[in-house]
Amino acid sequence: MLYVPTYSNPTGDTTSQAVADRLGRMPTAAPDFTIFADDAYAVHHLDDTPPAHPDLLGACKKAGNPTRVILFGSTSKITFAGAGISFLGGSKETIAWIGELMGTQMITPNKIEQYRHVLFLGRYPGGIAGIMKAHAKLLAPKFNAVDDILTRELSGKNLASWTKPKGGYFVSLDTAKSVASQVVKLAKEAGVALTPAGATYPFGKDPNDRNIRISPTRPPVDQVRKAMEVVAVCIQLASET
Ligand SMILES: Cc1ncc(COP(=O)(O)O)c(C=O)c1O
Repeated sequence: MLYVPTYSNPTGDTTSQAVADRLGRMPTAAPDFTIFADDAYAVHHLDDTPPAHPDLLGACKKAGNPTRVILFGSTSKITFAGAGISFLGGSKETIAWIGELMGTQMITPNKIEQYRHVLFLGRYPGGIAGIMKAHAKLLAPKFNAVDDILTRELSGKNLASWTKPKGGYFVSLDTAKSVASQVVKLAKEAGVALTPAGATYPFGKDPNDRNIRISPTRPPVDQVRKAMEVVAVCIQLASET
């Protein structure tokens, strides 16, 4: 099983401890059933009341299945996108096994980069939590802009619903009718590039053609607002037919 336990991509859901406990103890047909937990957004909160972080490793260990979960993440969206450092958690047995595999893949990780991270994050006021607060200051207004415009343009029309995540990088938007690809096409014609409809489904195929993942993090707030106005118009146009 491969999934994102914190601020899941695209819905923003976080696994509760109760669900983590169930995953840890559930009987499985395969003795080597493994959970690959991609905790890419473990510390990527947008407000000051984040949900509790599930302890998957502890849950699996407590249930007598210590090798069930392999937990991993990176500083891609903490320090330097695509070129930070990555990390991995698992039982002692798992780490020994993966260490052996990785040892044949490369001589050593980039220790200079690791050291730079230790120095930078160690000296940043508040450490990792501090830098994530600074990121949230930039990002939260963009997420608020998405919600503001969609609410202003679409509320009460029964044309779409969307998430208001407490962290992570995405808003998940569902159109009421099966028009997601048409919305993406119309938006493109108007000059707004959206992630392809259904991108987060297996093989990129949403059987209902209703889901669009919105990533508002990169453009400045005024561009996010304008882009969402275009998206709202496209949803209304596409839903007419
Ligand atoms: C769930 C998830 N995992 C991993 C990544 C990428 O991580 P990395 O740059 O460390 O490969 C992303 C997005 O960039 C993501 O959304």
